[in-house]
Amino acid sequence: MTALTLSTSAAPGLRADAIVVGVAKVTGSTSGDLVVAPGAEAVDKAFDGRLADVLETLGASGGEGEVTKLPAPSGLKSPLVLAVGLGALPEKNASFSAETLRRAGGAAARALAGTGKAGFALPVEDAADAGAVAEGVLLGAYSFDAYKEIAKNGNGAKKGKAPLVEAVLLGAKPRDKAFKAAVERATAVSEELNRARDLVNTPPNDLDPEAFAAVAQAAAKEHGIKVQVLDEKALAKGGYGGILGVGAGSASAPRLVKLSYTSSKAKKHLAFVGKGITYDSGGISLKPAGHNETMKCDMSGAAAVFAAVVAAARLNLQVNVTGWLALAENMPSGSATRPGDVLRMYSGRTVEVLNTDAEGRLVLADAIAKASEDTPDAIVDVATLTGAMMMALGNRTFGIMSNDDAFRSAVHEAAEEVGEAAWPMPLPDHLRKGMDSPTADIANMGERYGGGLVAGLFLKEFVGEGITWAHLDIAGPAFNEQGPFGYTPKGGTGSAVRTLVRLAELTAAGDLG
Ligand code: BES
Ligand code: MN
Ligand code: ZN
Repeated sequence: MTALTLSTSAAPGLRADAIVVGVAKVTGSTSGDLVVAPGAEAVDKAFDGRLADVLETLGASGGEGEVTKLPAPSGLKSPLVLAVGLGALPEKNASFSAETLRRAGGAAARALAGTGKAGFALPVEDAADAGAVAEGVLLGAYSFDAYKEIAKNGNGAKKGKAPLVEAVLLGAKPRDKAFKAAVERATAVSEELNRARDLVNTPPNDLDPEAFAAVAQAAAKEHGIKVQVLDEKALAKGGYGGILGVGAGSASAPRLVKLSYTSSKAKKHLAFVGKGITYDSGGISLKPAGHNETMKCDMSGAAAVFAAVVAAARLNLQVNVTGWLALAENMPSGSATRPGDVLRMYSGRTVEVLNTDAEGRLVLADAIAKASEDTPDAIVDVATLTGAMMMALGNRTFGIMSNDDAFRSAVHEAAEEVGEAAWPMPLPDHLRKGMDSPTADIANMGERYGGGLVAGLFLKEFVGEGITWAHLDIAGPAFNEQGPFGYTPKGGTGSAVRTLVRLAELTAAGDLG
């Protein structure tokens, strides 16, 4: 990953391959006037104060994420200046938002792939701004080329352009405690988030439940996290009918992984539960072509939970965090669960499987019921659960459902704080009867309309009595099939990692629940 350092030195004196500056649109201007953002005054000076004019001449608009490269004037020790658009200049006395800085850092870092060292002269006013730029840079520089053997230009060199090697945040105070802490936090969170992206992007033939569990085991060992892996035998002995039922058709057996991070100073306990379907073919209710090509992403919830627990450990948060990874591969075969089968779940309840493609709720139900036994202060599950949630909220926003309105709002606020788009969704009681089964306690499918809420209502039944719970349906934002934007790459995005980490931080600080 890109190495990040802080420096107080002025941009012109930095010997690097590029200097990044911010450019914004003047609010209320009809002529498309540009202004160079604070932090780049010395660079502008090297252009004789004409940098904004030069950028306008080059056709720059200052729009968010726009990147304009230009040769540096003689006053700079770096050969290239990269101007990144920040959007509209904030009102008088207001600053650029953390998310604007994060996205700008990300867009610039991505545009600098193949570059060695770059200085970032962006508008950093305080430690939080520095953390945001750092996070944007580290997340935006991400690339996944583990499976690229031949470069695009066919010159025989292995792999594409390497990510930016070194980023220097200019104007940040390297010895200031708050700046240092903000950048250390950004580094830990970004590194683990990028690891979650790697897991999501890894093809399903190389990441089955056993392989995922092994990755979790190794990381847990490295970071002093207690880990317990239940294999198919242990799952059978424990009565995990949901996880076993979903994994029954696969040549790769399912796993349930428990990661326990504990702090001696913890007063609260959070449980995170992740859907970890390493590939979702739909099972016997097979998905048609066109709907299964990206289904390696169906373990994004488990990847997010895994990353968040490791980040909590790296940040030494004063809260206990348990992560549950419900891992299975959903495949059709002679041993697969059929539509019509009844599964006896971990909780003892029975579920009639009407559609084997509604598998996420089955593995989650077992893991949520198990997580409830520790009576955590709250359970948050994360899952690429329904196409219906994508229909409702699009592909950049996840839905939040909960059995507690105040907690749902708290989760929403936490998401907004870290720059993740999320929206509260209801759990209407009347949708429950659609899941009534003539044979079992409940069916795994209900009404088609409001399918995301139906799935939420199903999960709610497996939450232990009196436990606060929230469900994040990340089916939309987990995997970006379009072009990269801001700090979000194509493919696995690491959705929900930052929200989970924020929830752990807020809980540690006693500001949640
Ligand atoms: N993994 C899918 C949901 C999904 C769809 C995630 C698209 C990401 C992108 C889930 O297991 C699924 O198949 N859900 C079904 C449920 C239905 C059969 C009740 C769906 O949403 O169609
Ligand atoms: Mn499915
Ligand atoms: Zn699925």
